Amino acid sequence: MTIAVTRLTPCFAARVDGADITRPLDDTTWTAIRAAFEEHSVLLFRGQSFSDEAQIAFSRRFGPLETTIRSIASRESTPIHIANLSNVDGENRLIPTGDKRNVYNAGNQMWHTDSSFKKVPAHASLLSAREIPPEGGETQFASMRVAHGRLPVDMQAFLADKVAVHSFVYSRGLVDDGLMPSDHAAQVPPVRQALVRVNPVNRRRAFYVGSHACEIVGMPTAEARALLRELREAATRPELVYTHRWRVGDLVMWDNRCMLHRGRPWDESRHRRVMHRTTVAGAGPTAPDEAPAAFSPARAEDVAWGRAQLELV
Ligand code: SIN
Repeated sequence: MTIAVTRLTPCFAARVDGADITRPLDDTTWTAIRAAFEEHSVLLFRGQSFSDEAQIAFSRRFGPLETTIRSIASRESTPIHIANLSNVDGENRLIPTGDKRNVYNAGNQMWHTDSSFKKVPAHASLLSAREIPPEGGETQFASMRVAHGRLPVDMQAFLADKVAVHSFVYSRGLVDDGLMPSDHAAQVPPVRQALVRVNPVNRRRAFYVGSHACEIVGMPTAEARALLRELREAATRPELVYTHRWRVGDLVMWDNRCMLHRGRPWDESRHRRVMHRTTVAGAGPTAPDEAPAAFSPARAEDVAWGRAQLELV
């Protein structure tokens, strides 16, 4: 199979044509896809009608898969390697407006990197569109690699050896109190991550500052959070963002080591959106695990940053 790779923006993201990734791939095609992933950070494959098993098999070629954490949105029937990001319940009915499960999933509408709150953060995520709303529900991407390259050299030097604390309890707390009962919170204690990550293949650097990042080791909290917000804003300037408008059968995969992403709202009271995600585990820890990580509670400006991105119904 020969694939064709077409850029979707001048700086990152590409569409890959010519491969049926729902079936086992020959090594040449696989190697070309792997190289395109390192180069473009976001890959779109159209017209892939995936079963969960086929999505898991394709994802596994990139490495071992993460299992999902237990949450108020979990479903017994979902395979452990699939994150079911949908507004539909186990009986295939729309989840009612305002239900905590939808509020919980709305946390994905803040700019983030998947699983940066785990000691071993995610390498890649693969999201397949099973059902989509007629409008809204896009996914947006922004490159922390591109933004790092645009920073002044003295800022790049300042960030180089910094370590950030990431916490899922902190970031879901920006959405709503009570989304993380204590037994769920116990699964995800805060962790340390390098603030700048280097791609092992092409040596390109990216800062690493999604919504779960809430402290920088050695900096006062308010100063650290202001810097984290400033870096996210630098990466997510509108002209640097790729907005993916989904079609059923799309699979988009992205590099969590260097990409921010967020889902966009849609009319959840009327329309179904069913997306299945597989998540490839990465390399880590990315920072020395010297002492237990800790974070201060969110302040008004932190909550304002998170809430500004959400549209809760
Ligand atoms: C995600 O945050 O992994 C999913 C984003 C989306 O639902 O568009």
